[in-house]
Amino acid sequence: MEHTNNTIHEAVREHYGAIAQKAGASQSTCCGPAQDTASCSCSQELYDAQLLENLPTDVTGLSLGCGDPVTIANLQPGETVLDLGSGGGIDCFLAWHQVGSDGYVIGIDMTPDMLAEANANKEKLGAENVEFRRGQIEEMPVESNSIDIVMSNCVINLSPDKAAVFREAFRVLKPGGRVSISDIVTEGDFSPEMREQLDQWAECVTGAIAADQYAALMRKAGFVDIQIVDKVDAEGIVERQKGMPRVFSARITAGKPG
Ligand SMILES: C[S@@+](CC[C@H](N)C(=O)[O-])C[C@H]1O[C@@H](n2cnc3c(N)ncnc32)[C@H](O)[C@@H]1O
Repeated sequence: MEHTNNTIHEAVREHYGAIAQKAGASQSTCCGPAQDTASCSCSQELYDAQLLENLPTDVTGLSLGCGDPVTIANLQPGETVLDLGSGGGIDCFLAWHQVGSDGYVIGIDMTPDMLAEANANKEKLGAENVEFRRGQIEEMPVESNSIDIVMSNCVINLSPDKAAVFREAFRVLKPGGRVSISDIVTEGDFSPEMREQLDQWAECVTGAIAADQYAALMRKAGFVDIQIVDKVDAEGIVERQKGMPRVFSARITAGKPG
């Protein structure tokens, strides 16, 4: 049976809701000894230690990304940043440090328990110009032409409609705006049977698409200067199964024409 977009969203929401609830209830972190989920990366492995210095472990511990989209974004004071699939908020808070009090950071996530964690962290940090919105990245609750930079960390691979995500990212960016993404991409395709494995989809594996297909979808949405580089074998992040294509975490940048 082929899954619908709704069943995929539901499985993904359930997966990340459970992770957020566990983090909130036990006060344990994904990087601590309680780690028991395959789709959980450790912030210390992804980010420069200096970047994390001013963030509490409640934030750095709920880090589920596969790279560091903030550093490659080259953020400037005063910029407006949108983070797709903001989770516990780690990249939003790192961006907040860089755009300063004249900037603004919006995180979108569809999982209520993740938003609750992000908002609790926002409160602890007093990050007034960081806002978390509930919504789907395929239909963003964001004004057109209002964002300087769209970031995302290990989320677009989870979407069942990646073309819609790129169309929306293009819509919300200001002319001349840019994109900075860390995501899982493949070399080759998953078989239709593998794509049916919803647990693996939710763990950032079987929803991933080939890098050239990813770039083609971005191009079709209108993006220019698309680069998919620094591909690192993601076997430390995802569990390799027989018959799987090669899976990488990659850095993806692009721009909206000015
Ligand atoms: C792998 S986690 C990454 C979280 C965060 N970016 C980080 O680096 O820690 C994926 C997050 O994206 C959210 N998400 C997945 N698909 C989504 C969608 N279609 N719309 C909105 N949020 C989504 C999940 O709820 C989850 O919080």
